[in-house]
Amino acid sequence: MNTFINDDTGETLYAEDLPIFATPIIVTKYNNHNDHEFEAFKKVDRKPESWFTSVNTTFPDVKLDDPYISSDLVEEVKKGLLNHTKKVMDAYNMPADIRFSSFWYNAYYEGQGQEPHNHLSPSNINPFWCGIYFAKNCFDGQLTFSKTDYSLRTQQVCDWNVSNVNGYYNELFIANIPNGHVVYFPPHLQHCVQVGKENRHKMRLTFSFNLAINRDAYLPDEYFRNEPVSSRVGNSSA
Ligand SMILES: [Fe+2]
Repeated sequence: MNTFINDDTGETLYAEDLPIFATPIIVTKYNNHNDHEFEAFKKVDRKPESWFTSVNTTFPDVKLDDPYISSDLVEEVKKGLLNHTKKVMDAYNMPADIRFSSFWYNAYYEGQGQEPHNHLSPSNINPFWCGIYFAKNCFDGQLTFSKTDYSLRTQQVCDWNVSNVNGYYNELFIANIPNGHVVYFPPHLQHCVQVGKENRHKMRLTFSFNLAINRDAYLPDEYFRNEPVSSRVGNSSA
């Protein structure tokens, strides 16, 4: 509880504000980062038709014959990241019997990026968590998370920015996460990437993934095992 003392009257007030309904993102240092060697390759626009901004992406998975990153290296990174992610889940007392339901890379040069998006599935088979591994030439301020619930704008009739609760009103979180780190976030969380001249000659490389729980490990009941949402889709790297 915070203590507020009135300058004029000396009166004491005890109060605290509670960050209810906060959204967790987890930033971790990836211990195997230095084991992987990533070469730069040329600027390429390879985005799905439904995306707007130019980016070299393999979404939703990396094909075995990918022209830029060998399948051996992809498998090495996948294996290292899955092990790391299981440790993170374990540390946070969350399900660690998990797999990648999607795993892809994004390569960017100046002018490329990703428009605001989330990782919710239109077919409602949603990831458990999502993650981004900052592999090469990732700079501060390029990844931004944004709020899509604007209800707290109703509180902004006054000069809200000087209030002691102004942190609740921020609608953007600009991430400063260095190379060699992994950020985890829930799939509904809107985010975008903007890449500027800092990457004119340095290719930014990230690996992104969606996680699924191996549900049999947690829901042994036959009903849940057979329901459609128990998605056995995508790759199983477990
Ligand atoms: Fe994303």
